[in-house]
Amino acid sequence: MTQTDTQTFTRMDESTAEQWAVIGMESAKNQGRVADRVLTMLRSLSEIVDGFATDQLTHCLQTATLAERAGADDELVVAALCHDVGKAVSVPNHPRIAAEILRPYVRDEVYKMILVHQDFQGRHYYHHFGGDPNARENHRATLTPEEYALAERFADEWDQRAFDPDYDTEPLEHFEDRVRKVFGAASLI
Ligand SMILES: [Fe+2]
Repeated sequence: MTQTDTQTFTRMDESTAEQWAVIGMESAKNQGRVADRVLTMLRSLSEIVDGFATDQLTHCLQTATLAERAGADDELVVAALCHDVGKAVSVPNHPRIAAEILRPYVRDEVYKMILVHQDFQGRHYYHHFGGDPNARENHRATLTPEEYALAERFADEWDQRAFDPDYDTEPLEHFEDRVRKVFGAASLI
């Protein structure tokens, strides 16, 4: 059955369980679209430089490469790859955009690591704007010691070091299977 021959509802309060079963099946069948869209957004980061030494795709690839070479697992590597994907839409709130894209597909500590990553990065540059380089301390109350340590490792060892145009950064194709695996789990709600 294709979507066009489905007799479906025009308003939700008239929907039936059978119609929702079709929508559920179609949505699950099309789950691969999520990874496709994420990869498209990542590719678009190559157009964004904004004064950095590398474009934002290279920065994301380099962050993921550093994570992989440090022995990080697949969810961490994919999160590292996607941590700045929100910049494809909007820089000021990019951590939350990226975190919410990842949220249904990664464990909670990985979601939180991306959500707070800018304030953890702030240790290395907030003072240039008159901001608080210890902004990460504000997150101690909402993170467990393990979550806090992971967020520190991400910012200090991988993210803040990943602006080197001469580093042998892995290409996007290197990570593509893992992107498809992590975003491949269907989540309907
Ligand atoms: Fe970053």
